[in-house]
Amino acid sequence: MADGATRLFIPRDMAALALGADGVVAAVERETAKRGLALDIVRTGSRGLLWVEPMVEVETPHGRIAYGPVSARDVADLLDADMLNGGAHSLRLGRPEDIPFLAKQQRLTFARCGVIDPFSLEDYRAHGGMAGLERAAAMDAAAIIDEVKASGLRGRGGAGFPTWIKWDTVRKADADRKYIVCNADEGDSGTFADRLLTEGDPFTLIEGMTIAGLATGASKGFIYSRSEYPQAFEALQRALAVARRRGVLGASAAGSGKPFEIEARLGAGAYICGEETSLLESLEGKRALVRAKPPIPAIKGLFGKPTLVNNVLSFAAIPWIMANGGKAYADFGMGRSLGTLPVQLAGNVKRGGLIELAFGATLRAVVEEFGGGTLSGRPVRAVQVGGPLGAYFPERMLDIPLDYEAFAAAKGLLGHGGVVVFDDSVDLAKQARFAFEFCAVESCGKCTPCRIGATRGVETMDKVIAGVQTERNLNLVRDLCEIMTDGSLCAMGGLTPVPVMSAITHFPEDFSKGSRLSVAAE
Ligand SMILES: Cc1cc2nc3c(=O)[nH]c(=O)nc-3n(C[C@H](O)[C@H](O)[C@H](O)COP(=O)(O)O)c2cc1C
Ligand code: SF4
Repeated sequence: MADGATRLFIPRDMAALALGADGVVAAVERETAKRGLALDIVRTGSRGLLWVEPMVEVETPHGRIAYGPVSARDVADLLDADMLNGGAHSLRLGRPEDIPFLAKQQRLTFARCGVIDPFSLEDYRAHGGMAGLERAAAMDAAAIIDEVKASGLRGRGGAGFPTWIKWDTVRKADADRKYIVCNADEGDSGTFADRLLTEGDPFTLIEGMTIAGLATGASKGFIYSRSEYPQAFEALQRALAVARRRGVLGASAAGSGKPFEIEARLGAGAYICGEETSLLESLEGKRALVRAKPPIPAIKGLFGKPTLVNNVLSFAAIPWIMANGGKAYADFGMGRSLGTLPVQLAGNVKRGGLIELAFGATLRAVVEEFGGGTLSGRPVRAVQVGGPLGAYFPERMLDIPLDYEAFAAAKGLLGHGGVVVFDDSVDLAKQARFAFEFCAVESCGKCTPCRIGATRGVETMDKVIAGVQTERNLNLVRDLCEIMTDGSLCAMGGLTPVPVMSAITHFPEDFSKGSRLSVAAE
């Protein structure tokens, strides 16, 4: 860092790069050199305000001041407007923590994301990192798991299973070798929280996995990411190298006296590879076919050994829990949904991005207060929550709280926290067809209800959309959904009926006498 140089923070996550962040860096370097200004550029992750990316922040005596969305051609103008001292400009957003989209969030897991240099362990520590691991290193395994139990943490990958039970099962399993596997496959449409965290704050994931190693007796961890996430993979490799060099990983992980090592692996990017047993097959170098359960991975997982599989966000919640106590985490949330949920808002929405909220906030708050309604300006008609296997909810149901049980009662699921907004131009019959088509394309093919059912579903929905014997064919779709729900080996086929049936139930007008829009177009 040049002495007395102003620090400028420019994100390098995949979204910011796609929006020209590297061009902004080049323009800043060019313009400041021309003006003889000393500058220290820190490449961060993203804070998750995607509609203002690339969001550039400058460190001033009054804290950081943000500007966005900044393009390369804005840079000279911004410097003329004294951006380096927080000067006024139409792109000036003020202090990031005062931007309502951020100010109204409860950022625990994502507190550092977009703030720190992702590869500086000093920066990480200065922002509270490693406190959880250092505490865990001095505790016995059962006490760590008691803390996780007190937090009420449930798996953020989709199923919402209590995290401590898995950890305890692996801890109690008797084996010469155990594994920790982080599911970073993130295949759900409209989701990006795993990627943001991995690119913006990879040490949090490494810290969480290392604590899991200490708690279960596993000495080796794998992170399974996808080929569509090259920046995330590179960030992991860089952060892992730092963690090894600095003794966070190694023969005595974080000075605990116990060994723990992590390796990052890249999948080819198939949706089914996110299902934990097919992920394990893929990690073993085989075709990603779903395994029958039991045995569960916690008993017989990777290479036949007890294996803890958790999502990125589950592991990433652990450092805060261990640093602040499980009880403090459980003070957020409602009912049996405790702590915070990193919601990912996408689709036809004005302000998309990462919204970490205590459970209990409503879906309406997410879509309207944070999202600002549709980008098209047309009325919100449907919101799909929980990825491609999640339900479509009509606008009148938006007051549902973010709570696993409330979503289950509404015949939906929170899943990985993806929320995709549609305006009134959406045709739910076509979305129902898409759900079957997605399943047909992504099915691993192992069981008949899913492999054959999804294809029959597409064909039958084509008839419904064309207005051919609508009621008879809709009844066939309902039957098919029942068979897929009851007979599928995994949730791929088992949950495909959720989007289909929610569309039929909440938007019946799109299924009568042919698709609403195709009839209108005739
Ligand atoms: C078709 C399918 C895809 C899935 N994709 C993912 C995924 O991308 N990431 C993930 O963490 N879990 C995914 N899951 C859930 C995993 O099987 C598993 O429940 C999860 O990794 C466990 O971690 P958690 O307890 O921390 O949620 C998927 C499940 C199914 C059936
Ligand atoms: S439900 Fe589909 S994806 Fe799951 S095991 Fe059966 S065929 Fe494979």
